[in-house]
Amino acid sequence: MSIKVAPSVLAADYMNLQRDVELAEQAGADLFHVDIMDGMFVPSIAYGPGWVKGLNEITDVPLDVHLMVEQPERFVEEFADAGADIIGVQYEATQHIHRALQMIKNKGVKAEVVINPGTAVELIEPVLDMVDQVLIMTVNPGFGGQKFLPSTLKKIEQLAAIKREQGYDFDIEIDGGANDETTKLAFDAGATVAVAGSYVFDKVDPAAKIARLKEVTAD
Ligand code: DX5
Ligand code: ZN
Repeated sequence: MSIKVAPSVLAADYMNLQRDVELAEQAGADLFHVDIMDGMFVPSIAYGPGWVKGLNEITDVPLDVHLMVEQPERFVEEFADAGADIIGVQYEATQHIHRALQMIKNKGVKAEVVINPGTAVELIEPVLDMVDQVLIMTVNPGFGGQKFLPSTLKKIEQLAAIKREQGYDFDIEIDGGANDETTKLAFDAGATVAVAGSYVFDKVDPAAKIARLKEVTAD
């Protein structure tokens, strides 16, 4: 099976968001990736729950909400109520990763743990039995358009090995610098979902880009 593609709306044309969302939806986007940034955990600021609710109203594609915020527990319920289908919390942003994931599950939403490029896979082993998805950041979070860090491939392989050995069925997602080459490398290492922002929404042909990511990862 090809990799699932999650276009990142951070890179869409904000003034023509509905057009870009429809284009990506028709091209077979599996999820929409929504970056929430608080100006603290990461330097940028982006999107509140009201915005996510609006997005949810214009698409049937599930929303993959990536909380790049300090103490994400404070916002889990609001984003769940706004229509998030998956909520990701950064391991580094809370002293209570287990509790944060529990809160997400209690809202009936899929739970995801996220780790930065400098965070070891071993640190999240205690919560792997409770997640639906693990996001291995393939750039340092905060900005679109950065270069994929090849050192993250080993972490994907390591996580995929644990998944196999333990019989887990969570998805393994990558985020940052995804293009046809890096997505293929990540897929071969065990990734099952690719977030793609600037590669997809490059103002040329989002549909062709989504198709290309599926094509290079077809078995
Ligand atoms: C980075 C964000 C990403 C971003 C990816 O902090 O988490 O989701 O939108 O953008 P690209 O695909 O352009 O690297
Ligand atoms: Zn993201």
